[in-house]
Amino acid sequence: MTDESRKSIHGQWSSRLAFILAATGSAVGLGNIWKFPYITGENGGGAFVLVYLLCVAIIGIPVMMSEVLIGRRGRRSPINTMRMLVAEEGIPRIWVLLGWAGVVAGFLILSYYSVIAGWAVAYVFRAASGAFDGATADGISAMFGDLLGNPESQLGWHTIFMVMTTVVVARGVRSGLEQAVRYLMPALFVLLLVLLGFSMNTGYFSDGLAFLFTFDVSKLSGAAVLTAMGHAFFTLSLGMGAIMVYGSYLPGNASIAKTSVTIAMLDTLVALIAGMAIFPIVFAEGLEPAAGPGLIFHSLPLAFGNMPGGSVFGALFFVLLVFAAWTSAISLIEPAVAWLVENRAVKRRNAAGLVGVITWLLGIATILSFNRWAFEFEFAGETKTSGIFDILDILTSNIMLPLGGLAMAVFAGWMMSKSSVLDELKMGEGAMFRVWYFVVRYLTPVAVGIVFLNLIGVVTF
Ligand code: TRP
Repeated sequence: MTDESRKSIHGQWSSRLAFILAATGSAVGLGNIWKFPYITGENGGGAFVLVYLLCVAIIGIPVMMSEVLIGRRGRRSPINTMRMLVAEEGIPRIWVLLGWAGVVAGFLILSYYSVIAGWAVAYVFRAASGAFDGATADGISAMFGDLLGNPESQLGWHTIFMVMTTVVVARGVRSGLEQAVRYLMPALFVLLLVLLGFSMNTGYFSDGLAFLFTFDVSKLSGAAVLTAMGHAFFTLSLGMGAIMVYGSYLPGNASIAKTSVTIAMLDTLVALIAGMAIFPIVFAEGLEPAAGPGLIFHSLPLAFGNMPGGSVFGALFFVLLVFAAWTSAISLIEPAVAWLVENRAVKRRNAAGLVGVITWLLGIATILSFNRWAFEFEFAGETKTSGIFDILDILTSNIMLPLGGLAMAVFAGWMMSKSSVLDELKMGEGAMFRVWYFVVRYLTPVAVGIVFLNLIGVVTF
């Protein structure tokens, strides 16, 4: 097949740089700025960070290369890409399920992702209006509790975020996704650097650095290793077809290896800068690094509220979080929208609207998880208190993404012919290729297999 006949009907990125911006936009999100700091705090800092970095480098980058190459080979939505490659390569049809699982995972993840992003939207206005100024721990705690306990207000913020997401996806690959990231990503970097500069002046910058980068093996539990590895998938947007569908819009001649390395490095850089910006503030205010998911929404407003210029910096911080979440959210529904456009001859605008409405409706379950529908259950020895929200998070991050990532590696490593893989990677058959091929064929299946077996209790660390 020629490169021309392999062009996606949805268009292409205008350049490799545009793809890098879009994929980095997908990767950098609540995972980096909200989740990475709090799981680092919970798992004791430096040692956890080191394992996370190793997982990104050793498993994340090779799996990302697999996902991009599968996407570019198929040049269609993940479901149709799998259909096409299954036919072309004579692979069992069951693999098409991987495309469907990705679409389902995208709906599920975005349904709760949008609710949390909605909190961030709410906090932009709270910070800007000076609601945090001079606040006490009790006051901030009550403010967060009010939001969690108020489904109507959360529904409003969730609606705003879903509309933002749907509008961008409706505009399509070039005028929608690409235009959004072209401006949002550089803005994000600038805002992070502003926040970093602010943190350097708290007087606690070195404490923050020491926390993030001092390696203490005694703090490295088996559970921490597993958490670090799972987060590598989540933060790089791997395992559900988001990177696959972005790869399907990648011009045929761009190097997949270099591109994947660049994206992973930018994503990691943002997580580390976010950590370096947040922990000095946490220490300056004498807060608890292991405070959990509330680290940002509960503790940072308190920190901002008691610092000079805090309402400006606080508002900037939450604007940044919304931007990051926005460019991630669009990638979560792009696989479903692309499929509707291909198979149902629906206009992209209508497809985005339909997918947006379904996700918005699903999000209501997450909103009610924190109030009217709240219930407790036990998972892996921990008590979860937010019912459906926790179930969705566990189902997607702990089960669907690792299995999806494993499947992508196996698909590229064992199912596709070596010649198609070589043809798509365009990196020759040298040492780099052989390392990658070994990792996706053996290392990734074994490593992810262990994570999964641990989850279902067959293997225990
Ligand atoms: N990577 C994003 C973050 O860190 C979230 C995300 C976007 C994602 N698309 C994804 C996670 C696809 C898994 C799969 O916030």
